[in-house]
Amino acid sequence: MASIPPPCLYMAPLKGITDSLFRQVYLRNFPGIDRSMAPFVNPQRSPRYPEKLIADLLPEKNQDLELVPQVLNSDAEGFIALGNRLHELGYGEINWNLGCPVKMVAGKKRGSGLLPHPDTIVDLLERVLPQLKPALSIKMRLGYHSHEEALVLLPRLDPFPLAEIIIHARLGAQLYSGPVHLDHFDRCRTHTCHRLVYNGDLVTLKDFNTLAARFRPLDRWMIGRGLLTNPFLPSEIKGISISGDERAKCLQLFHDDLYAALKERLSGPGHLLGRMKQVWIYFIHAFAGKEKLVKKITRASTEQSYLKAVDTVLER
Ligand SMILES: Cc1cc2nc3c(=O)[nH]c(=O)nc-3n(C[C@H](O)[C@H](O)[C@H](O)COP(=O)(O)O)c2cc1C
Repeated sequence: MASIPPPCLYMAPLKGITDSLFRQVYLRNFPGIDRSMAPFVNPQRSPRYPEKLIADLLPEKNQDLELVPQVLNSDAEGFIALGNRLHELGYGEINWNLGCPVKMVAGKKRGSGLLPHPDTIVDLLERVLPQLKPALSIKMRLGYHSHEEALVLLPRLDPFPLAEIIIHARLGAQLYSGPVHLDHFDRCRTHTCHRLVYNGDLVTLKDFNTLAARFRPLDRWMIGRGLLTNPFLPSEIKGISISGDERAKCLQLFHDDLYAALKERLSGPGHLLGRMKQVWIYFIHAFAGKEKLVKKITRASTEQSYLKAVDTVLER
């Protein structure tokens, strides 16, 4: 009997958290992730991209990992210019964000704000794809207002040569909370010829096993916040065993590694603590029973008080 290949696990883009530095630090401390998607590049009015906007995607900052950059454009000219610049940097695939729910984005008919407008999406793909050098994948939600939106859009994407479609199983209007809609994700599977990747609320091995059994033969999974709330999830899925003692050590090493790397890159304690606090919003859940201590961390205003609060959580 042919053996089943291991699932392919993706690090989701989390803007403000999973930049190149985070990716490097995370991946060297926690095994199991196969591919990573970078947070979106902010679209510009002018199609001439200031290089600083893509500085974090430079190959020298992203060595030894499979990375897919993400764009959020809703204009063909800017989309093509950015996509082809990323191709020059060596990226064979880019991703189009049709999932961002933030009002400032969705209100301008970008991200998930485009989902109720399938004609606009199809028109843009018709104009962009013939001139786009890298392959294109899409990351989307089930809709902005209604689950019917994905069911209308997906068949219309069939004629395009997309690399794959990642679906975060929520509506844009839900932002990042409320339940994921597994029945609606399931319905999407019968409305597309493209390869699908599941995304949304994968936190425990049990979550993964339940979804893997339900959506078989789907074998690609994107994990976002779960990588911080349970950093051992990818290794658990891949059957890599890490003992209790090793786990505590890994969590400490990851924290210290990230803190030192960010301290070197960022200017001033304000930026450093701001970034670390973003991480702790999710990371605190890796320390069962200590969730209340996060307040001490998020209230810290100096490096000293921050490190003291962190040491309490890390038990040292
Ligand atoms: C702080 C934050 C930033 C995010 N930034 C992006 C982004 O840049 N691009 C994107 O496609 N999704 C972004 N997302 C959505 C995640 O990639 C993911 O789809 C969502 O969090 C659901 O997956 P999860 O439950 O595994 O976290 C972001 C989510 C959060 C919470």
